[in-house]
Amino acid sequence: MQYSSVRQSTRAFQKAKGLVGRRYHQQRELPAASYIAASTAIAEPDLHQGELVDAQPSTSRAAGDRKQTADLTAAQVSQNKELVDKFRGKLILAPLTRGGNVPFRRLCTDFGADVTMSEMSFARMLLKGDIVEKARLRKADNEHCFGFQIATNNIQEGIGAGKLAAEAGASWVDLNCGCPIYEATKRGLGSALLRKPPKLARLVAGIAEGIELPLTVKVRTGTSYSKINAQETVALLAEAGAAAVTVHGRTAEQRYKKPADWELLSDLAEQHPVPLIGNGDVLTHYEARDRMSSGSFLAIMAGRGALIKPWIFQEVKEGRELCLTAQDRIGVYRQLVSHMKDHFGDDAKGWRKASYFLPWHFDFFCRYRHFPEDTFGEASREQPLMGRRTDLAMAELGETLESLPVLERLLRCENTAAHKEIAWALWDSHSDSQAATYLKFLAAEKLLEWEETAEAKEDTRAQG
Ligand SMILES: Cc1cc2nc3c(=O)[nH]c(=O)nc-3n(C[C@H](O)[C@H](O)[C@H](O)COP(=O)(O)O)c2cc1C
Repeated sequence: MQYSSVRQSTRAFQKAKGLVGRRYHQQRELPAASYIAASTAIAEPDLHQGELVDAQPSTSRAAGDRKQTADLTAAQVSQNKELVDKFRGKLILAPLTRGGNVPFRRLCTDFGADVTMSEMSFARMLLKGDIVEKARLRKADNEHCFGFQIATNNIQEGIGAGKLAAEAGASWVDLNCGCPIYEATKRGLGSALLRKPPKLARLVAGIAEGIELPLTVKVRTGTSYSKINAQETVALLAEAGAAAVTVHGRTAEQRYKKPADWELLSDLAEQHPVPLIGNGDVLTHYEARDRMSSGSFLAIMAGRGALIKPWIFQEVKEGRELCLTAQDRIGVYRQLVSHMKDHFGDDAKGWRKASYFLPWHFDFFCRYRHFPEDTFGEASREQPLMGRRTDLAMAELGETLESLPVLERLLRCENTAAHKEIAWALWDSHSDSQAATYLKFLAAEKLLEWEETAEAKEDTRAQG
């Protein structure tokens, strides 16, 4: 259907939907604030008071006890090895706050993700019984190798959280040492732990010894460019009993500004005995393959690549790009909706919870582009495709916005208002074809306006 003819029949369609439209607006107005506030526990004011607390529990502060190496039992060593075998050669789904919700992980697992991880959970809040932190322990039925990620700087908290993770059926515990957000670092959590590698090693050794599950650690290359210390950190973590270490190839300060430093990651993987998982900017199957073959990595981890295209796991397994059309992607997104309905409930309450996550996912889904290896393989070896400007990528494929089918154009729209409406249309449809029709009506009604607003925002960002 052409864009113009879609536009003409919008009104008729909306009338026909009648009740649907009303329900949408009624439901959107339901107060989701409490759920959202609870889901963003990182903003809790008194989560962890004070600066980086000593990693040692008060009972073991004797000078001779400040060791950085772990005395793991034979059973722990063998469990570590088993976990490493499960990781070998895999593309691991990264821990993703908000994005790594249960329905999304279930979707990634549908597409072949064999190893998945929870959103970061604050161990102290978890041990206090916080409902949101406890929810992060839940895994989908199809997740079989699931890591529970914690943020803590205290051994006893780590051990307590490890116990809950084991009871909940997690396969391992991961310690977050990469979160750059001030709310975490001001409390000595996340990437603040990278400031003092020996202290971090003591924390890791203490937790690794005290929990029945293997412990892995996720770090960045350092806190800032002038303080890159991954060599020291990884060397100490190798001794401290970590089953494996994930290194995101950027500093905490860098956020996502520069490409991940895979040269440094390769050096780390080659020089240290600890099994190393490389992380940063993997978007295509050929980038995953190149990373895996160029280094001595145990595995590779993808975060945004999975958020943009959850089918990346299948692409990596099959060594080919799936090239999903807009219609195909609607099917995938509806699969996510179906998992959300199962998880949150297929009613107003379920929608209220899902509406915190689903529109948010479209902020990533809209970045999907086809990147054939023939055209982009060489360029990807010069610079990761993740950081590439999408309009340049389109030009290389001879695409213009106007040449795109209307559904494709709508799914690429970067406007958050559009994401909310798309999310609702998918939630409210009973089949892929009904969803497509609904989306075409939406496009006819609002796409140009949404595109203009998104463009204006982009211009302001570029200027300022
Ligand atoms: C939305 C979002 C949420 C994230 N949440 C977490 C988290 O909870 N714990 C963590 O260790 N890293 C988190 N990260 C970082 C990712 O796990 C990953 O290290 C980073 O995105 C680099 O990988 P990528 O280039 O494949 O995205 C998050 C990243 C994003 C984009």
